[in-house]
Amino acid sequence: MKVLTMQLNSIIIMDFIAYGGAALGIALACAAFADGRLGLSGCVFMLLLSAEFFLPMRRLGSYFHVAMNGMAASDKIFRFLSEPEPEPEKKQEMLSEDGGDIVIRDLHFSYTSDREVLKGLSLTIPKNSFVGIVGESGSGKSTVASLLMGRNTPQDGQMTIDGRDLTTVSEDSLLRTVTYVGLGSVFFKGSVRDNLLMAAPDASDEDLWNVLSDCGISDFLQSEKGLDTMLLENADNLSGGQKQRLALARALLHNSPVYIFDEATSNIDVESEEAILAVIKKLVSTKTVIMITHRLANVTDADRICCLENGEVAGIGTHEELLVSCPAYAALWKTQKELEDFGKETVLQ
Ligand SMILES: Nc1ncnc2c1ncn2[C@@H]1O[C@H](COP(=O)(O)OP(=O)(O)OP(=O)(O)O)[C@@H](O)[C@H]1O
Ligand SMILES: [Mg+2]
Repeated sequence: MKVLTMQLNSIIIMDFIAYGGAALGIALACAAFADGRLGLSGCVFMLLLSAEFFLPMRRLGSYFHVAMNGMAASDKIFRFLSEPEPEPEKKQEMLSEDGGDIVIRDLHFSYTSDREVLKGLSLTIPKNSFVGIVGESGSGKSTVASLLMGRNTPQDGQMTIDGRDLTTVSEDSLLRTVTYVGLGSVFFKGSVRDNLLMAAPDASDEDLWNVLSDCGISDFLQSEKGLDTMLLENADNLSGGQKQRLALARALLHNSPVYIFDEATSNIDVESEEAILAVIKKLVSTKTVIMITHRLANVTDADRICCLENGEVAGIGTHEELLVSCPAYAALWKTQKELEDFGKETVLQ
């Protein structure tokens, strides 16, 4: 706002001087011409010069604005550079390369002191199992993922992977063990190859093509410039489905023992969704797959499903078990079935 105020003030002053000066020059030239002190050619010359003379002043005004912006930006940069260096990591424990059972015990978490988001959540995710986490919007599903990824720290309770408490595990080791694929996967401006190699720096072009083909995006890339296809920031030059397929390819290249898919197939067309689900389900049995989803149909074949309701576990079990034992799950399933059937009837009509 300071820069904007300065800019507006400087524009007013500069314009006043430039146009006022030009008008004064023109008026004086006309007066001199009328008095006969200036010939016609001299008068025309003065008229043209009056307009030209003050233009550099206006340009100076705009350069002044650019300089102010630069100063504001450099202030921010220097403020950032003068921040103290982060303390060296105290968490040193390493997770084993092939993961292990994930055990969550009596987890309590709140973003703000006035509202608890997770209220004593307990869940066991056996190694190499396929677990779904479902529940209404706001029930705390993504919060569980953020805690498992170490992005937030629980106020109470415990989370362990292979018996190791996550509060003692090094961030580096945790990120190598757990891969998170959400809706807003980040891509950097650069080639597809550069973006993929971030997950697996040693992968060969052949490895990259294999995984791209598994995720159903190799044909599209071949029709462009292959692995050298350039991506805009956040892959804005790809469609939603293509972005999700590429995000999945990158996640697969990371080859970690645990995968969390948080609404990874939302907002994309049915064809892309099915292709992506097929790839995810191929991972099951060799990797621990945690699928957070609104669409219960995506997890009906999970080994166990955890249904959350207002930050509490409403039920844990297979799809069939929950339909009988968990009213919240049964209600969600019924609503979704009705909506899908209504959709099908509408299409048929
Ligand atoms: N960064 C945040 N700061 C404060 N509150 C938050 C934050 N993120 C989420 N919440 C709150 O925590 C609760 C759980 O949010 P969460 O994102 O875990 O829900 P969700 O089950 O993943 O919902 P959805 O299905 O819509 O993705 C919500 O009530 C939300 O308002
Ligand atoms: Mg969520």
